[in-house]
Amino acid sequence: MSNLKRNGKLRWSPSYLRNRGQLTRAQKRAQRDLWPLYGLPYRFDEVIIPAEHFPATSGPLIVEIGFGMGDHFIKLAKALPERSLLGIEVHRPGIAAAMAKAEAAHLENIRVMRGDARLVLTDHFQSQIAEAVLIQFPDPWPDSGDAHRRLVQPGMVDLIHDRLLDNGHLLITTDVEDYANHCRSVLSACKGWNEVESSELSQYRIVTQYEQKGINESRAIHELKFQKTNTST
Ligand SMILES: C[S@@+](CC[C@H](N)C(=O)[O-])C[C@H]1O[C@@H](n2cnc3c(N)ncnc32)[C@H](O)[C@@H]1O
Repeated sequence: MSNLKRNGKLRWSPSYLRNRGQLTRAQKRAQRDLWPLYGLPYRFDEVIIPAEHFPATSGPLIVEIGFGMGDHFIKLAKALPERSLLGIEVHRPGIAAAMAKAEAAHLENIRVMRGDARLVLTDHFQSQIAEAVLIQFPDPWPDSGDAHRRLVQPGMVDLIHDRLLDNGHLLITTDVEDYANHCRSVLSACKGWNEVESSELSQYRIVTQYEQKGINESRAIHELKFQKTNTST
């Protein structure tokens, strides 16, 4: 899994900031002791069969991309113990924090992967593996010159469409109105999506640090819900 094409160009523009903080002592402990339990490592050419990594659960995955410190991800996993939750994040302290929360809650239904979700989903998974993909408060990259760094782009949306089961959901929450408009315009230009009013998973949403900051600064929270439709119609 490399972000470089053969011609030396990037497959995806970086959608995250590098070096977002050091691991605390507790996070180092979590990384060392809990990665064997919750981490899902992968070889560069490995295609992952989800069922092999979720022995305690069955059925399709719920995937959260960019789970930050894992508060929402872990809450969802606690609420849905019979479902398989896969979190993908680049930020080491966040991964360690999420694993520590999973241990404290005795969870058996989560796995975490470290890496750029766009590369992970492209290179290591097959089609139709997830019932839902969640993106909570993606980095907004508000300057127009940085718009290419936004996670929600046509290529990413088409990739998620392929990895979702028929009628699966893509849920995006943001406190940036411009980003919500951006998502709606990308999704309406991509084939095979309907914006819908509700999704079962929305009821488990909790207020994360990012959301609280938005609320404190009087920003509206936009919960966008899209459903995969049959592309052949
Ligand atoms: C603004 S934070 C929000 C964190 C969390 N979802 C929340 O609501 O508290 C965005 C997160 O997305 C992660 N991220 C950004 N681009 C990513 C990518 N391509 N793959 C995986 N994670 C990514 C960042 O590392 C960061 O933790």
